Amino acid sequence: IGSKLWGGRFVGDTDPIMEMFNASIAYDKRMWDADIRGSKAYVKALEKAELVTTEEMENILHGMDQIHDEWSKGVFEVKPGDEDIHTANERRLKELIGEPAGKLHTGRSRNDQVVTDMRLWLRDAISTLKRNALQLITTMVERAAVEMDVLFPGYTHMQRAQPIRWSHWLLSHAVALSRDLERLHEIRRRVNVLPLGLKTMFWIDCVFGHVELAFDDISINSMDATGQRDFVAEFLFWASLCLTHLSKMAEDLMLYSTKEFSFLVLSDAYSTGSSLMPQKKNADSLELIRSKAGRVFGRCAGFLMTLKGLPSTYNKDLQEDKEAMFDCYDTVHAVLQVTTGVLCVFDIVSVFLLLCQVPFREAHGISGKAVFLAESKSILLNQLTVEELRTASPLFSSDVSAVWDYSSSVEQYSAPGGTAKSSVAAQVEHLRTWLKKQ
Ligand code: ARG
Repeated sequence: IGSKLWGGRFVGDTDPIMEMFNASIAYDKRMWDADIRGSKAYVKALEKAELVTTEEMENILHGMDQIHDEWSKGVFEVKPGDEDIHTANERRLKELIGEPAGKLHTGRSRNDQVVTDMRLWLRDAISTLKRNALQLITTMVERAAVEMDVLFPGYTHMQRAQPIRWSHWLLSHAVALSRDLERLHEIRRRVNVLPLGLKTMFWIDCVFGHVELAFDDISINSMDATGQRDFVAEFLFWASLCLTHLSKMAEDLMLYSTKEFSFLVLSDAYSTGSSLMPQKKNADSLELIRSKAGRVFGRCAGFLMTLKGLPSTYNKDLQEDKEAMFDCYDTVHAVLQVTTGVLCVFDIVSVFLLLCQVPFREAHGISGKAVFLAESKSILLNQLTVEELRTASPLFSSDVSAVWDYSSSVEQYSAPGGTAKSSVAAQVEHLRTWLKKQ
């Protein structure tokens, strides 16, 4: 036990079960690179403050580079006493360069270190997710542009409402995702704040670390810096909302891909078959996309429960932040890529055009009567004769057939945000311009 970083005051050994229960190395080793980056910046600050000599700093930097090499080659050996990534890297540094390794921890606590590592890691993760989301939005916008002339039924309450452009539907989801991307951008600003070294009396390390690690800001309160994980909670909520949006889209697509709807055919690349019924093609990709919102929201709710009622500053409960953060990142990262793949390769069925027979120009009451009439005769609305229609309203005349023309129908909605070609084209242009600015 004496060999542990904190072992000085202890005489008894840690129970092996406690050892396992306490350790986070199994998952926080993912932050090895952030941990090394943080330590390298910190030792440079210590040298500036004359707390280590230039030679000691160089030894430490060199040792850290070696450790970096070991991790990146996959040969870093995690030893039984390595509680977390911070203790593992420091233990290895001591093995490599001997005593000066201990000086790295001058004025620094693991509580500073862990939150710095988390912020560095999440900052990079956010950049990756932004790229994934941009790719997905671009795919949606370009598909909408190409398939601008495809019409299909719009629904409310899952009842057929009126004809719309297929691209109008697609862009409605792209717009929601564009807001998710903007939210992610705002979260990044609050994530990218330096908490490192705030426990110390050496102000210089803050200013230095800030520049060295490319943080946008420095935390102004040390108790807040080490004890708060709202930046993690915010990210978990973001993941939940983003996947909620995608689950809505996946649900629509799944329905549209059924034989009953037959609006689109999912590509083989994103479907699976049935071991029992050879005719089946299951939309597993869409079902899994739909499911993941539940998973990440569970992480978010669980972590908020962990945070609730915690006393100020660092408590070990906060170690729970990492699995939630990693899992949400991995999940969203995968979902964004799979959704892009699904959207790139499914086929639209052209019979879409035959499926829209909803009247919209005539007053609601008259239309309702006509629908009733058609239903009572078990025929479609556009199969009613003008005479039959006149029993619903004398306003019906022989030009009624124009009403059944779905392409002129969608063209009525040319106001901004509408489903007319000019409006949808404007949406495409709006999103293209927005994408260029990201
Ligand atoms: N592994 C810990 C965590 O993830 C690091 C901080 C430990 N600090 C402490 N005082 N025990 O939160």
